Parts: sequence; C-alpha cells; structure tokens
Amino acid sequence: MNNDIRSQFPILNTTVHGKPLVYFDNAATTQKPQTVIDTLADYYLHLNSNIHRGAHHLAAEATERYENVRRQVQAFIGARHHHEVVFTRGTTESINLVASSFSKRFFSGDDEVIVSGMEHHSDIVPWQLAGATLRPIPFNDEGVLDMEAYEKLFSPKTRIVAVCHVSNTLGTVNPVERIVAIAHAHGVPVLIDGAQAVSHLPVDVQRIGCDFYCFSGHKMYAPMGVGVMYGREEMLDQLPPYQGGGEMIETVTFERTTYNQLPFKFEAGTPSVGDVLGLGCAVDFMQQVGIGHIAAVEADLLAYATERLSALPGIRFFGTAPQKAAVLSFLVGDAHPYDVGTLLDQLGIAVRTGHHCTQPVMDRYGIPGTVRASFAVYNTRAEIDTLFEALERILPMLG
Ligand code: ALA
Repeated sequence: MNNDIRSQFPILNTTVHGKPLVYFDNAATTQKPQTVIDTLADYYLHLNSNIHRGAHHLAAEATERYENVRRQVQAFIGARHHHEVVFTRGTTESINLVASSFSKRFFSGDDEVIVSGMEHHSDIVPWQLAGATLRPIPFNDEGVLDMEAYEKLFSPKTRIVAVCHVSNTLGTVNPVERIVAIAHAHGVPVLIDGAQAVSHLPVDVQRIGCDFYCFSGHKMYAPMGVGVMYGREEMLDQLPPYQGGGEMIETVTFERTTYNQLPFKFEAGTPSVGDVLGLGCAVDFMQQVGIGHIAAVEADLLAYATERLSALPGIRFFGTAPQKAAVLSFLVGDAHPYDVGTLLDQLGIAVRTGHHCTQPVMDRYGIPGTVRASFAVYNTRAEIDTLFEALERILPMLG
C-alpha cells in the first residue's frame, strides 16, 4: 500500500544534493499527488473562468465544480450546511476573518480571548490586532494543556476561546470537545485552528461542537492558496463581512450596500477556483487512502522515530503528550537546531528548524528553537532509519 501511495507523489523521486529526498517537513506543507497536480493543469487547460456570474459554458461548469467542492468539504468535516463552508486563502486568512468580523460584532473595548499556550502566531496576532487581551492556557512539560487552569481563565470579559486542535510544534492533540463544552457552559464560543489536524485525524465539527473551524488545503495534499473557514450558521449570520468587493453584495448604491447570503457574504472578489478544485481532489485522495489508514501509518512512524532517535546521546524531545500527531520536535546536546537542519539538508533530508511560529512555546521551555521532523502518509520507516543514521553521523561534528 505504501509504495502505491508514494508512487502518486512525483516529487518524492527528487534528489537533493545528489541524495534521494527524505521529506519530513509535512507540518509546513505536504507534497501533492499527481491527481491534484493534474486537476490544476486541467483547470487552466480546459476550464479557467470566473465563477457565479458568467452567462457562458465555462463559467457555468467552473461554478458547478467549485460549489461541488463546497459540498464535498461539508461532508468531509461533518458540517450541517454547505453554506457554513467559506473558502479562504488558508488558515491564517480564516482566523483573521473571524477575528476581524467577530471583534466588530462582539468586542466592547475591554475584551479577553483565551488561547492555548501552544498557539501558532496566526492564532495569537489576529486577536491582538482586534484589540483583545490574551489569556493563555498553560501546559505541562509533556505538552498537555492544564484543563483546571483553563476553567479559571473565564471572566465576564471572555469573548471567545481560540485553540489549536493539534500543536504544530509539540504534536499534542488537544481535547477539543472538552474545551468546547467548558466554554459553552460559560456561554463563550470557540474557534479551533485545525491546520495540523485535518490531514491526520477524522474531524467532525458537529461532534466537536465548535463555532468556527479553520484549516489550509496545502497541509492536506491540496494546492497552496486555498483554505476553509467553517462557521456555524447562527454565528456567521451575526457577523459583518470581512472584505468588501464583488460577489459579497446583494445591492450597492453610493448611499448603502446590502450583503449577499452565506457563504458569499464572506467571499469577496474572485476566489482561487483552480485551487479549490485541487482541494476537492485532495479530499478524494484522503478518502481513497482512508483517514484511518493515514492515522495508523503516521502513528507507526511517530512511534518508530521516537524509539530510534531516543538512542541518540543527549536527545531531548519537546512534546511527549500521550495523544500526539505525527510531529517530532527535538534538540540533541548543545547542537544548534539550525546547524542540524543545514547538515541534514546536505544529506537530502528536509526538516524544519527554529521556533515554528510558536515563540511562546520556545519561551516556555527556555530554548531558541527545535529541529522538527513531521510525517505524512507517504513516509516510511526506512526514511526514519536514514534520518537516524544521518544524525549519528553529523552530531559529532557539532560537538
Ligand atoms: N505553520 C507551518 C509550520 O508549522 C508553516 O511549519
């Protein structure tokens, strides 16, 4: 099965510095299967057209296929209505959309947002830009959120809880259903940043019960430049638009504009139609492989990598929660993560180094950054052996 999967990703045959590519930077972006690449090419070869208003064949066909992907994503994440699925450029834009529109509607000038201490900057800065004071949920050395501390953070000023489903740096799978239940008991809505979850776990937004769920296509085998902002209908109906422009209006005069219905109220301007079709194709890919199979392969890779790398003298793992997705963050001895990453690259191995856009996590551990290997369904145990042997070889050079 794994060879069948790998053969669908042409880039995995690439060599880097004369070595076969070992791609372990999947939390930053996954590679794309041939079907997704073909969908993009096919769109520009045969279908390219602006959607929704055109009177001609290409516009009608492109519109139908674009709207079909909306229904496909609705089913994929278990949304009640297809108009609760809004296409954006990615998770960052999705969260900025919510922070901007939600704050205009619900902030009053003295507002708090509960986030987790392990949030990506894209779920911190938009709330700061909206004027909120952030109340971070602490986490323990393993990378597990302190749920008692969480409950104590609520106050009459709490407007929303915004937490990641899976930490991009620690791999922790957060207990999002409990987080939502506690927030709702306080009458507070919840946004989940699902960027690191959708390609690894089954996601059902109704079961989670969240008010918003944001994710990117490019971390789930789809093209860059497309993402999703899911919002519960009752919540989206209360929010003002994010951007103004074409498509999001019903009527415009110089005196007054009225807005289009959901989801178009939040989709101003020309969307990235080809990328949305690519997203639909990526969902097809994941469903054909099976999210259960993906999760099982990645769990095996994570366990194997943790066990193998544990044999390296002086290794320290960051993020050892019992519920973890396919991310392994580590430091070895005094070696600087950047030096480790650069030497691994010389051997064809792509990892990420640095703070991973989570500077508060680095501050929590008192470190400048980590080396992060992150896995996808096409990775293999043999590639982890290559990583281990490479680390054994380079670490002595780094003192
Ligand atoms: N958010 C992406 C990562 O974790 C870029 O690498």
